[in-house]
Amino acid sequence: MHRSEKIWLTLSFGMIMAFMIFAGYQAFALEMGPPSHGERIDPQKVDQTAPFDQPGIKQIGENEYEVVMTLQVFSFTPSDIEVPAGSTVHFTLTSKDVVHGFQVAGTNINAMVMPGYVQKITQKFDKAGEYLVLCNEYCGAGHQLMGTTITVK
Ligand code: CUA
Repeated sequence: MHRSEKIWLTLSFGMIMAFMIFAGYQAFALEMGPPSHGERIDPQKVDQTAPFDQPGIKQIGENEYEVVMTLQVFSFTPSDIEVPAGSTVHFTLTSKDVVHGFQVAGTNINAMVMPGYVQKITQKFDKAGEYLVLCNEYCGAGHQLMGTTITVK
C-alpha cells in the first residue's frame, strides 16, 4: 500500500473514532442524548385519560402552578391562563389530533406537541405581561389562527 494511502486511512479512521467518542461523551456524560422513557397516551382517549380529562390550571405550591393543556385544531384548552409574576409553571401537554407547536413569545419555550405523547415543560414567569402563545407547526387550514395568551400579573 502506498504510504500516503496509509496516512489518509489512518486519518479518516481516527476522525471517525474521535467523532464517535465526542458524540458518546455528549450523550452519556453530558446527558444530551435524545429523551427516553417519554410518557405515552392514546390520542383517541385524551378526554378520558387523567390528567387530560380535566384540563386547567391548578396551584400546587407557593408560586407554583400546574397547567394541564390539550392542543387541538385550532385551539389551546384552557385558553385563559393567568398566574402571578414570579410563578413557576409546570405545563403538561398533549395533542388530540395532529402535531402542534407550543411556543411562548418572550421565553425559551418552543416545543412540539405530538398526538400519542405527553410533553412536559417547566417555566418561571418573572415579568408581568401578556405572553403570546403560538402554534408553530403547520396543522391545517386554521393554523395561523391557533394562538392564545398567558397573563402574568
Ligand atoms: Cu396547531 Cu398549527
